[in-house]
Amino acid sequence: MTTPPLAVVTGAFSYSGSAIARALHARGFALRTLTNRATPLHPFDGPIDVQPLQFGDEGRLAASLRGARLLVNTYWVRYARRGVGFEQAIRNTGVLLRAARAAGLERVVHLSVSNPSPASPLAYYRGKAEVERLVAAAGLPHAIVRPTLVVGARDVLVNNIAWFLRRLPVFAMPGSGSYRVQPVALDELGELVAEAACSPEPALTLDAAGPDTISFEELVRAVARAIGVRPRIVHVPGWLSLAALGFLGLFLGEPVLTRAELAGLRAELLVSHTPPRGRTSVLAWLAAHGQDLGRAFASEQARHFRRS
Ligand SMILES: NC(=O)c1ccc[n+]([C@@H]2O[C@H](COP(=O)([O-])OP(=O)(O)OC[C@H]3O[C@@H](n4cnc5c(N)ncnc54)[C@H](OP(=O)(O)O)[C@@H]3O)[C@@H](O)[C@H]2O)c1
Repeated sequence: MTTPPLAVVTGAFSYSGSAIARALHARGFALRTLTNRATPLHPFDGPIDVQPLQFGDEGRLAASLRGARLLVNTYWVRYARRGVGFEQAIRNTGVLLRAARAAGLERVVHLSVSNPSPASPLAYYRGKAEVERLVAAAGLPHAIVRPTLVVGARDVLVNNIAWFLRRLPVFAMPGSGSYRVQPVALDELGELVAEAACSPEPALTLDAAGPDTISFEELVRAVARAIGVRPRIVHVPGWLSLAALGFLGLFLGEPVLTRAELAGLRAELLVSHTPPRGRTSVLAWLAAHGQDLGRAFASEQARHFRRS
């Protein structure tokens, strides 16, 4: 019997990493995850070795990658907190890539975002472009997968839209709501990443986007239909919606939507400019999963800062 190839996935108990781990497992990979999560947010049912995701000791990080054929990197931060912002996340990813090279990996698959740019006014998208540059310069065969908006169970944006819709009779739509998004289903993202992992192309870059390009307002209305509520949608200036969300964030203990995230949405950065690879309609996914959406607030703080 031959030994299955080993894939290391960062964050296999978190959001995208869980779907990627499932898709790689289905393709016959043995799995290891690098994570700091004690309690899985998204349980992975197959066998998996667990090591910490620590950037302070490059030698130890390389040791935790040794023996693997593949690294899938999902690591990034949503916003700056506790001294770790985008600059630090770039440096951390650089450490991970050097460790991958030292460990003799055959391929790295890196999760980026749609429309990264070194010229972006938004630090998230500039940082993503810089990390893509590091991945390409690491001297390893690689694939860069750029998701748009990843929709699945317990994701932050759609789940929390549902959470608000379940609790408030009025939804304050930032601006016109006509700016578009092109979501991709979580499981389909896992499949696209696994395909990119198995591709023989030494330097592959692709968008992960689904078939539906819809306005943000259509997305909110689809979530409302899925959970069975009929909200009054009120259009308010972006600054006012951010002020209202900032106020609610005081009670929730964390930012609900950052100024930069709203700017990215309004600039349609979550729309792909290549033919969609995803075939799953997120609208159909929402309709089928409405009963589970928004039951609990999806907290970034609980996920990444209040660890058990
Ligand atoms: N979710 C989306 O809609 C979306 C859209 C476009 C692009 N992306 C990109 O796809 C990748 C994965 O996103 P995701 O939503 O699936 O992320 P996630 O599961 O929340 O986190 C991915 C990985 O980053 C680690 N991480 C996240 N925040 C951290 C922090 N503040 N400090 C230390 N470690 C942290 C997690 O650690 P643990 O394992 O310890 O939890 C996990 O290993 C990211 O590069 C993201 O930019 C996501």
